[in-house]
Amino acid sequence: MTLPGSPHVAYRGDTLFIENCSLADLAARYGTPLFVYSRTAMLAAAGAYQRALTERDHLVCYAMKANSSLAVLQAFAEAGCGFDIVSGGELARALAVGADPNKIVFSGVGKTRTEMRQALQAGVMCFNVESEAELDVLSQVALEAGRTARISLRVNPDVDAMTHPYISTGLKGNKFGVAHDDALAVYRHAAQLPGIELLGIDCHIGSQITAMGPYLDALDRVLDLIDAVESHGLRLHHLDLGGGLGITYTDETPPAADALVAALLERIDARGHGHRKILFEPGRSLVGNAGVLLSEVLYLKPGDSKNFCVVDAAMNDLLRPAMYEAWMGIVPCVLRDAPPVTYDVVGPVCESSDWLGRDRALALQSGDTLAVLSAGAYCMSMASNYNSRGRAAEVMVSGYQSWLIRERESAAELFRHEHLLPKA
Ligand code: LLP
Repeated sequence: MTLPGSPHVAYRGDTLFIENCSLADLAARYGTPLFVYSRTAMLAAAGAYQRALTERDHLVCYAMKANSSLAVLQAFAEAGCGFDIVSGGELARALAVGADPNKIVFSGVGKTRTEMRQALQAGVMCFNVESEAELDVLSQVALEAGRTARISLRVNPDVDAMTHPYISTGLKGNKFGVAHDDALAVYRHAAQLPGIELLGIDCHIGSQITAMGPYLDALDRVLDLIDAVESHGLRLHHLDLGGGLGITYTDETPPAADALVAALLERIDARGHGHRKILFEPGRSLVGNAGVLLSEVLYLKPGDSKNFCVVDAAMNDLLRPAMYEAWMGIVPCVLRDAPPVTYDVVGPVCESSDWLGRDRALALQSGDTLAVLSAGAYCMSMASNYNSRGRAAEVMVSGYQSWLIRERESAAELFRHEHLLPKA
């Protein structure tokens, strides 16, 4: 049986492996719910972007919102990646793994003054500014700190990324970026501000994009803008094309990263912009297919209209199905030779939206371990403590080796920062 997603997660006989480690063995050793990641898969994904860009000045900034666990960041930092961050918390994580601040871009529509100060202090390469109001505040904060903030404007090219509306960001109605029509005026304003230095231009049109068309359309719009800005005597050095490349959860066929990069470079060159430094901010496509979530089957609950398979992972561990009705593959870690039954796979949380998969044909017994596939991106990083559930543990695998990279959160840790009222 071949599985959608990573070649590093595959059956050998009836047993599911990630690289050379049996997932059932990892579940027995570390407990469930458990996220398991393949370092080889992550590095291969980053390598595909990097190889396609070798011929020119470039930087692949891993968008760490997809998975910000320190060991994951460490792997990408060691591979030469920079980081795309969106908060002071993400900045602290990048610095904690020794990331080069000069390879960090700071995105996001709502940076606070405190976060701006921290990022200036750290010496980040670039702020991706999303509004004129933010630009004015950033200039002020930089002056107060005795520094200059290097910036890109994130422009909203008004193209349809043809993805889920919640993860589409490049349309006029979205809160993100400076409207294409306003961008020239905002650049001219930025050039006048004493605390600001122009560095580049940036766009990011959405996530889980599975076609090249929207990228090429956005690129054309951004190149038009660069031409207009530079015709006013301003200089933009780099071109940041954001992230957004989709992965295979089921039958999606996104372009390979190197094919996408090659097509974009070809257009960039054809339009006379080949000298520019090129940045990408991939998140999901670097980690999504590299991870699985392991969960134990607690109870099988047959019913008149539905059969339920109750597992020990829940929407607090894996929010994507509840939030986007996302389809994620669910397979047994050891195949059983028995006829499959159709189940809704659900968690213990007290919400009807707490499901991981619906109408899945599975041959199961309680005590079995299931793997949710392609769970490396936007799963652990979106996990919560709802129902006072500690967050799952995480393991990184490379070949035959496995390392616990995050301990399971204990009950005591959940209320460590809470205070009782004085006794009445
Ligand atoms: N750059 C910016 C400015 C972003 O906002 C994002 C993602 C990325 C890069 C990385 O995009 P990626 O390569 O991962 O598509 N929670 C949702 C996805 C939200 C994406 C938010 N922005 C999900 O689970 O599908």
